[in-house]
Amino acid sequence: MRYMLLLSLLYLSMFGMDGEEVYNKKCSSCHQLYIPVEILMKNFMDQNNRLLHLKAPTVNQLSYRLKQQIGDPKGDKDIQLMEVTAFIQNYLLYPDKQKSVCLPEILSYFDTMPSFKGKISDEEIEAVSEWIYFYLPPKKEVNKLQFVDYKKALILAKRLGKIIMIEVTSPTCHYCIKMEKRTLKEPDVVALISSDFIPVRVDLSRQKLPNNLKWSMTPTFIFLDSDGNVLKTVPGAWMKDDFLTILREVKQSKGDEI
Ligand code: HEC
Repeated sequence: MRYMLLLSLLYLSMFGMDGEEVYNKKCSSCHQLYIPVEILMKNFMDQNNRLLHLKAPTVNQLSYRLKQQIGDPKGDKDIQLMEVTAFIQNYLLYPDKQKSVCLPEILSYFDTMPSFKGKISDEEIEAVSEWIYFYLPPKKEVNKLQFVDYKKALILAKRLGKIIMIEVTSPTCHYCIKMEKRTLKEPDVVALISSDFIPVRVDLSRQKLPNNLKWSMTPTFIFLDSDGNVLKTVPGAWMKDDFLTILREVKQSKGDEI
């Protein structure tokens, strides 16, 4: 059995069926690709799946859980990949929550996956399993803030229950560049902003601030609720720890308001 699998993996690496394509065609209607872990936690632990309304675990969740739960997480990768492939093959044909690798608290929000018996080939299973196994979150999501425009921020803030953070900046402002190159790239800062805020960057050399918002210097950070009401205005560039404190205070003050 293992030998067969190994052979077909070899075959795959030579002729390369695309696992991502299989995912897009057969799995993506239920399994979303990537959602950062902090947001998944918030969705399941605090909000009973009402934040994201997920129908199935995301691919980053699956990839992580499979690598943790199947075979030896510290052992040989090729062997573990074969074990994971065998598990997924079995699960696709005979789905049963009793066999699940996912956390029971999370599974309770999902139906059991429908069986793929007769609807997927062995090659497709192997390709998609390998792709899930080696799945890596998109880099830009991990260490970079995803800025959106103000209009989109209003919609997202409402839908996700987040605070809008407008960074007022200009290309000639030395402290803006410092802030952007250092503080706004710190993983802790990126993580906190990504989980609780919707960042908007307004470059004053090209854009105007929405709603006649006031600013006195660059950079300035303006925090707004999802109706566009100003919660706090914070002028200046900040080092990591001070900026984290500011973010936590803003988050806290919004919490008090509700
Ligand atoms: C119709 C919706 C749907 C489709 C399509 C679907 N899944 Fe699922 N899948 C689910 C749900 C719901 C769960 C969680 C409940 C469960 O484990 O049965 C799940 C769970 C899983 C699990 C985890 C099993 C575990 O241990 O919890 C794997 C692996 C998986 N799916 C792989 C796939 C792959 C690969 C595809 C595409 C070939 C796919 N799924 C297509 C709905 C779907």
